[in-house]
Amino acid sequence: MPILSTVGLSKYFGGIKALHKLDMVVEEGQIHGLIGPNGAGKTTFFNMVSGLLPLTEGKIYFNSVDISNIPAEDINKMGISRTFQAGKLVPNMTVLDNVMSGMYNYAGVNPIKLFFLKPFTLRAQEEEIKQQALKTLKFIGMSDSAERWASELVWVERQLVQIARALVTKPKLLMLDEPTSGMGIEESKKVEGIIRQVRDMGITVIVISHDVKLVVNLSDWVTALNFGEKISEGTPQQIQNDSKVLEAYLGEEKK
Ligand SMILES: Nc1ncnc2c1ncn2[C@@H]1O[C@H](COP(=O)(O)OP(=O)(O)O)[C@@H](O)[C@H]1O
Ligand SMILES: [Mg+2]
Repeated sequence: MPILSTVGLSKYFGGIKALHKLDMVVEEGQIHGLIGPNGAGKTTFFNMVSGLLPLTEGKIYFNSVDISNIPAEDINKMGISRTFQAGKLVPNMTVLDNVMSGMYNYAGVNPIKLFFLKPFTLRAQEEEIKQQALKTLKFIGMSDSAERWASELVWVERQLVQIARALVTKPKLLMLDEPTSGMGIEESKKVEGIIRQVRDMGITVIVISHDVKLVVNLSDWVTALNFGEKISEGTPQQIQNDSKVLEAYLGEEKK
């Protein structure tokens, strides 16, 4: 059963075809890798699916429902969560508050009200969100860091907290944008382990990476993009042996 599919999905920025007529199917319960050299259109794909960027053309279906051009908040409520490539957290907030912030949008709770007004119902709701956030922090192995400032975290911790913030809404589909970029092998393995655990919990994952090795290790199915177009798709083994994928990456080295 596909959880997400796109038909002729396109995004043009003036003359730049960031994504061009992409047909893609993501099966429920899988880790789906999305690879391609820099500028291939990977992040643009996430931006459209998560409702942050209007489509130029095409359709996006989530569990067979047309979600094209639906506002980001509603997409999140339907069960799609994501992380960002730059890994931004709010630096002068604790780790716990950063993770909790993933829920505010979702719960329809205004964080300003939570902090200043605190009527009884909001306090009860806040406690529930806090418990959910603590559970998620435990899952990523960072319970001990709940009260640390986000600004104190090292890179791998930042990525993990971003994943926790995305998971706290209990999504059906989690989209990770370059979750291991800039990491060493050990750190990368840790994040890979978490991603597998997420999949094993029944959450479908789309993982963007520039790193073919990572995606080959991790994914059940892979789509490869170059210059906004799908150049290949298949099992990790098929992708690894596809000369079109190799050429795309060699082309990047020459740039
Ligand atoms: N907001 C934007 N305005 C103009 N061009 C953009 C914008 N976002 C992305 N692009 C262009 O679209 C192409 C695809 O970018 P992106 O999706 O970020 O690639 P990737 O994530 O695969 O590295 C690039 O040529 C990029 O410069
Ligand atoms: Mg990108």
